[in-house]
Amino acid sequence: MEKSFVMVKPDGVQRELVGEIIGRFEKKGVKVIGLKLMVISEELARKHYAVHEGKSFFEELIKFITSGPVVAMVMEGEGVIGVIRKMVGATKPGDADPGTIRGDFVLDAGQNIIHASDSKENAEREIDLFFAKEEIIEYSLAVRPWIY
Ligand code: TYD
Repeated sequence: MEKSFVMVKPDGVQRELVGEIIGRFEKKGVKVIGLKLMVISEELARKHYAVHEGKSFFEELIKFITSGPVVAMVMEGEGVIGVIRKMVGATKPGDADPGTIRGDFVLDAGQNIIHASDSKENAEREIDLFFAKEEIIEYSLAVRPWIY
């Protein structure tokens, strides 16, 4: 089953949107198999966003993502990487459709409350960066047969 790395960013935690965000995924049928509140170290932030190193917004992004607690999660389900990205919405505020998380709650390009992996390769890399193997729990959900 496909896995994705999802994170409520410091602004999402401060705005008390954690429950709202997790609730949307739960209602969709996406299963949470890893979850923790944590403060990201500068070292981890630089690794996580390595692809953006050198870009104009990079240092601001590192400062922002390490500025307070985040909720890091591993989510599982069929095709979850693409499904979650659709539910998250576009990076550019004007492009994020209403009904998506960013479309409903975000006006800024940087403070955009949520991160979600954009490919299988990045999902694996990000899950490995943020979670130890024993922090990911495989368990059965009674609703599963009613979703698939
Ligand atoms: P990116 O991976 O392109 O977007 P997404 O989060 O939708 O996968 O960029 C990572 C983060 O960097 C993005 O969530 C917010 C920040 N960012 C800016 O602040 N300005 C920008 O112009 C871009 C492209 C990203």
